[in-house]
Amino acid sequence: MGSTLLFLTYAVFATIAYTLFVCIGRVYFHAFAHVPGPILAKLTNAYSAYHAAKGDTHVMIQRLHEQYGPVVRYGPDRILFNSRKSMEEIYGRHENLFKGRAYDAMRVQPLPSVFNAASNELHSRRRKIISQGFSEQAMRASESKILRHVGNYCDVLFEPSNGKDWGEARETTQWSAFFAIDLIADLTVGRSTAMLTSPDNRVYNPARKANFVRMGLAIQWPEAFCSGMVNPIKVGEVLFPKIAKLGKEWHMLLGSWIASRLTELRSEKATGESDMITAIAQYRDPDSGEGLSDGELTAEMTTLLIAGSGTITTGMTSLLWYLSRYPDEYQKAVQEVRSIFKKPQDIGMNSRLSRCTYLKACLQEAMRVSPAPTAPLYREAGPGGASVCGIYVPEGYEVATSIYALHHNEAHHPDSFRFDPSRWLQDNEKVAATKAAWAPFSVGDRNCVGMTLATNEVLITMVTILWHGDFRIADDAKLASIGAGSSRLGPGRQREKEFQLYDTFGASTDGPYLQFKRRETI
Ligand code: HEM
Repeated sequence: MGSTLLFLTYAVFATIAYTLFVCIGRVYFHAFAHVPGPILAKLTNAYSAYHAAKGDTHVMIQRLHEQYGPVVRYGPDRILFNSRKSMEEIYGRHENLFKGRAYDAMRVQPLPSVFNAASNELHSRRRKIISQGFSEQAMRASESKILRHVGNYCDVLFEPSNGKDWGEARETTQWSAFFAIDLIADLTVGRSTAMLTSPDNRVYNPARKANFVRMGLAIQWPEAFCSGMVNPIKVGEVLFPKIAKLGKEWHMLLGSWIASRLTELRSEKATGESDMITAIAQYRDPDSGEGLSDGELTAEMTTLLIAGSGTITTGMTSLLWYLSRYPDEYQKAVQEVRSIFKKPQDIGMNSRLSRCTYLKACLQEAMRVSPAPTAPLYREAGPGGASVCGIYVPEGYEVATSIYALHHNEAHHPDSFRFDPSRWLQDNEKVAATKAAWAPFSVGDRNCVGMTLATNEVLITMVTILWHGDFRIADDAKLASIGAGSSRLGPGRQREKEFQLYDTFGASTDGPYLQFKRRETI
């Protein structure tokens, strides 16, 4: 008994001494000791995981830059920069910064995909293959599918309107999410998920959402979500069991969609229109003659299904939000659309769409004020370390530029919380300066491979809505306030007209609640 007590006493003292030693080391003797930031962030990544769990990562980071300046320590081994230059240096052209343990922690499927491949070599090989699904030919082939799903989405939005009166308010985040998943599942694996039209198919919606929450936590606290010597059990999954379980269920469901399409392709019973998996599975490397294995294809298609759904939802809802809150800008967009497209059959990925310069400016501006990526996209320094904006980053340490903070850096975007599409319609030099500090799709070799598809998808959808009718903020004041900033939501969320984002790696949103009315005169 006596010796057990003595052992326990030693163990407690040893733990306290070790913790103190680590804490003092992290604060005073660390390579980033000179970089300012909250004390808790210097001690543990649990600090940023806490903010991810609250969904306010981007808000917090933007406020920290206001408080501490352009470089902030946001984790023991992590620093954040906030400038056009840092965006360019980290993502645009650094040869010794990689996607490291943060991306490994987000991965659920056994093999890496283009999104979480660590080495540049693997990444560029995969990127070349994945790009087959985004070729001009593939984009043209996807047009009819896009128009079909946009039609379903508009039917749902306009359904309660009889052409004379405004319909009941619609919660657009949910409907946009169903639309986005229906469309991406059709484009990638030719599957009809029919979430928009069949309520039974929505049972997996909580799992879809949980997967994003898990990603948001894992990128902030990778050591808790990667198993290994230090963390034999995944602490993150013990702390958030429901999220972990549902997230895996979502991956299993996506995996089953991919497997059934692969079986169809392999048995040569493939029917229907072409999809991305067909284009990607057929690809053979011109030098080696090799293609992707089924496991690799599963990893890639899972990535496309995830990357091409939540982001589109945020792009769509942000645009709906800002157009509904800024009546002059709304009117200009309506006039442009109705003057360019004389009849609904004119709508498509064509030269008319590229003439919608005002609507495109509205989309760029919505994606600036409320960008889909809310988590910092960390890059890890390789052997020998890296230098970013004059600061040395040792091997294994991480850096990022928060896209939300960059978009609200007043030096680059004055009056940054004002939705002002005219920023995109000034003289070339000013537009170039705005664009250089705009990165909703990130920049460089690892930017979004789906950028053109996503832009066309959201523009065609908005053109279709504005051609067929109008929308306005819900007349019920309580519903109208959902998604709005308010001082009740805490510091950084007080701006009423800013569409509120909640960090789940990419953004999650609520609202806006809008009413739709079909045009009587068409
Ligand atoms: C508005 C919509 C979208 C936004 C804002 C967006 C944003 C982004 C961002 C910021 C990245 C970089 C991520 C990182 O560095 O960790 C990215 C990568 C990626 N996105 Fe998108 N995305 C959108 C739509 C799409 C769509 C529709 C697809 C596919 C169907 C897609 C597929 C991908 C893939 C595969 C990557 C990884 C690319 C690579 O590492 O080479 N995205 N996206």
